[in-house]
Amino acid sequence: MRNKYNNIILIGFMGVGKTTVGKLLAQRLGYRFVDADQVIEEETGLSIPEIFSRYGEGYFRQLERQAIRRIFIHSGIVLATGGGAVMDPANFSFLMENGCVVALDASEETLWERLKSCKDRPMLYSENPREKMRALLEMRRPVYYKAHFVVRVDGKSPKEVADEIIAMLEVEGGDGDKK
Ligand code: S3P
Repeated sequence: MRNKYNNIILIGFMGVGKTTVGKLLAQRLGYRFVDADQVIEEETGLSIPEIFSRYGEGYFRQLERQAIRRIFIHSGIVLATGGGAVMDPANFSFLMENGCVVALDASEETLWERLKSCKDRPMLYSENPREKMRALLEMRRPVYYKAHFVVRVDGKSPKEVADEIIAMLEVEGGDGDKK
């Protein structure tokens, strides 16, 4: 498929489906799928919850910042970012300059349904994870909404979401070429 974007970057809250949709998109576009959290886990040999519990969130954010910059040495990538990555304004600008940034968005209810039994999201370790989720979402949404495109995922299968993004890229970038 022809489109003008060298890279597609998925941003959005935890549980919104960036990894699942990203893999489908990469397959369809013939791009390489990269998951920023997975890169960090492979490079450190530690899981994300282990990094948080041993070294804290600040250290994780440092690793995340470095990983995001290294990933774009190549192009033709679909990148799934961690939900907090774009809260660093420098990361957000970097991503916006290096590809088409698509935010996946879902209602608070959908997200909670998907996240309530998850044990591997240290940002939600709290006395009241539902409230923590709500507060984070409120803080982060305005940033997600600054993406090039925003796609709602409520009630849609990952394939439907991927189809929607592909259609959008064809309309927006159909006359261009993958560099
Ligand atoms: C985080 C989201 C996680 C992971 C880390 C921090 C966040 O990624 O990067 O646990 O701050 O929202 P997912 O969005 O893939 O769950």
